Amino acid sequence: MNVVLNPKITILGIETSCDDTSIAIVQDGAVLVNLITSQWIHKKYGGVVPEYASRFHVESIIELYEMAIQKVGLRPEDINAVAVTRGPGLLGSLMVGLSFAKSVCLSLNIPLIEINHLHAHATSLFIDQKANYPLLCLTVSGGHTQLLFFKDESEFDVIGQTLDDAAGEAFDKTGKLLGLKYPAGPEMDKLAKQGIPKFKFPMAQVPKYNYRFSGLKTAVLYFLQDQQRMDPLFIERNLTDLCASIQHVIVKMLLQKLNIAAIDYKARSIGIAGGVSANSELRANISELCDKNNWNIYLPSISYCTDNAAMIAYLGYLKYLKKDFADLSITALARYPLTQTQ
Ligand code: KG4
Ligand code: ZN
Repeated sequence: MNVVLNPKITILGIETSCDDTSIAIVQDGAVLVNLITSQWIHKKYGGVVPEYASRFHVESIIELYEMAIQKVGLRPEDINAVAVTRGPGLLGSLMVGLSFAKSVCLSLNIPLIEINHLHAHATSLFIDQKANYPLLCLTVSGGHTQLLFFKDESEFDVIGQTLDDAAGEAFDKTGKLLGLKYPAGPEMDKLAKQGIPKFKFPMAQVPKYNYRFSGLKTAVLYFLQDQQRMDPLFIERNLTDLCASIQHVIVKMLLQKLNIAAIDYKARSIGIAGGVSANSELRANISELCDKNNWNIYLPSISYCTDNAAMIAYLGYLKYLKKDFADLSITALARYPLTQTQ
């Protein structure tokens, strides 16, 4: 008789909430593979075109799934469950991932696990590392900015968030005013390294641990219009300093609230997650703040910062252990607020 001792738990993760198609496999909590294809078509439109995004997911998802399975040398039958992003995101894009996930579940007769994309970004901190609690996590992406207070790995409260634009949007929208291609965050980060933050932009005053970023975009717009009246080449001549100045004020706003919340909540650790957590000034300044205050710091590796299926599969693994499965009749949710432990 063939007795299998301690069989491994293998979770397939699927992420298609926006413009990246990603498939990952996590086994017993360890990431075996994390494949991501980015859609470059949106660059020329200055933002994501939802219809193109869904079509691209349809074209790439099966090939990516087959590549992932092949790469780790597993058979589809070795998968125990499928974790998929249910929302928030672009409805058409989410539907591609969710439909594919349901078909894999049906064909293999395995459970479906639904994942809130924002919950997964925060949980990406714990892939490959154990954290010390209580921990404060700043999730900063293209669509969301949230401060989460984690009592432990699976229990958290949302203590603050943006009341208008997200931090990533602030990078993307001000970058667009400077003529940078979408998404402007990475380019602004690169250019800012060669500039100095000599232009002063106002910091929004917002109650509690909340944020506002749309005022910055307006301030930059009026500033540029004024300067360009005197010098039509103002942006070209000052591009690196403008990037450094805008990045500086965004990072300063993010850190100000994080610092206050960490003191108020007596946090032992600080983490950042989401696409903007790849920003070099934010990473450097948070490290410095943590050093000064003796807080432990958790920075996800760059491949887990932007949208990826590893974080979906990893959270799927934690939910699998709790047998937290979803019905195959669930639908995608374009709006899916993260309020507390789900
Ligand atoms: O988490 P993510 O990949 O997608 C969403 O869920 O939104 O985040 C994308 C956002 C974009 O706004 C992009 O400009 C920003 O992350 N981003 C950065 C950097 N890398 C990506 N922002 C600033 N500096 C970076 N290095
Ligand atoms: Zn994201």
